[in-house]
Amino acid sequence: MNLNAFRENAKIEIEKVKTDGELEKVRVKYLGRKGNLTEVLHSIGDLPKEERPEAGRIANSIKRELEELIKEKKEILEEKKTLLWKDLTLPGRKPFIGTLHPLTVLGEEVQDIFIRMGFSVVEGPEIETDYYNFTALNTPPDHPARDLQDTFYLKDGRLLRTQTSPVQIRILEKHSPPLRIISSGKCYRMDTFDPSHSPTFTQIEGLWVDKNISMADLFGTLELFAKEIFGENIKTEFLPGYFPFTEPSCEQLIQCPFCLGEGCSVCKKKGMIEILGAGLVHPSILKKLGYSEFNGFAFGMGVERIAMIKYNIDDIRLFYQNELQFLRQFNES
Ligand code: PHE
Repeated sequence: MNLNAFRENAKIEIEKVKTDGELEKVRVKYLGRKGNLTEVLHSIGDLPKEERPEAGRIANSIKRELEELIKEKKEILEEKKTLLWKDLTLPGRKPFIGTLHPLTVLGEEVQDIFIRMGFSVVEGPEIETDYYNFTALNTPPDHPARDLQDTFYLKDGRLLRTQTSPVQIRILEKHSPPLRIISSGKCYRMDTFDPSHSPTFTQIEGLWVDKNISMADLFGTLELFAKEIFGENIKTEFLPGYFPFTEPSCEQLIQCPFCLGEGCSVCKKKGMIEILGAGLVHPSILKKLGYSEFNGFAFGMGVERIAMIKYNIDDIRLFYQNELQFLRQFNES
């Protein structure tokens, strides 16, 4: 018998063993009273005299080796048993369930405010044509916003929308007024990432077109919005602004919710913070679409900006870094 092959087979079998029972079977098979190795030891007597000592020495060393391996295996199996033992009285660990992103949560909150005021939610494409993003919005070809430095252009001449305002045109082309819509989505500008800029950001656009809409309607709507988001006592202010597609144009500011107008680091000592751009839809836009007898107002806000003010976050990048510790704060469940 080839003693080496015998030893290798025995080793493989011991290695494969998974339970105490299997281990005992292997032990009996090789080392038992009628086991294979015992037989080998007995048959040594049949060998020529001069070969007997060497064969005996090898067989005994195999025997010791296998006994050692079986002992080690026994210890391994014991160890596994203690690892498997569970304390059923320990409290369970609550699995973490994914949550909505804070920008989604706040975006929905903003939309809900306008839905309660009778606005419907519509969507527009993120890849836009030059026409909808600029031309139709009174932004002429030499306007700086069209600069390659500011806008991401695609090879085919289309672009990543720089604002949600093109939705105004798309909706008015398909539906005649009166109408009240809001539209939320991603916008893109070629900004470098820094605490207050991001090349991707989220805007919410609003448009109300009807007869006899005035700046008073715009102010009233936006003031109500600000109170709903920042609290009943928040003071708002409107300053003149400029956008090519609104006339007149304005910016809405709110009293800094942290210092209540006293001046602090959040509002950079100004006491007031700008939250959005707005205005009456430029009459030339409505005229081109065939709605000269109508007028309306539009507004656009950055959701990140509203979130940063509402939650006192000083770095816009936090919204995009997927830091769970940051994200989980907004969804305590
Ligand atoms: N689209 C403008 C911006 O991105 C905001 C705006 C929207 C202004 C609608 C007026 C009316 O800054």
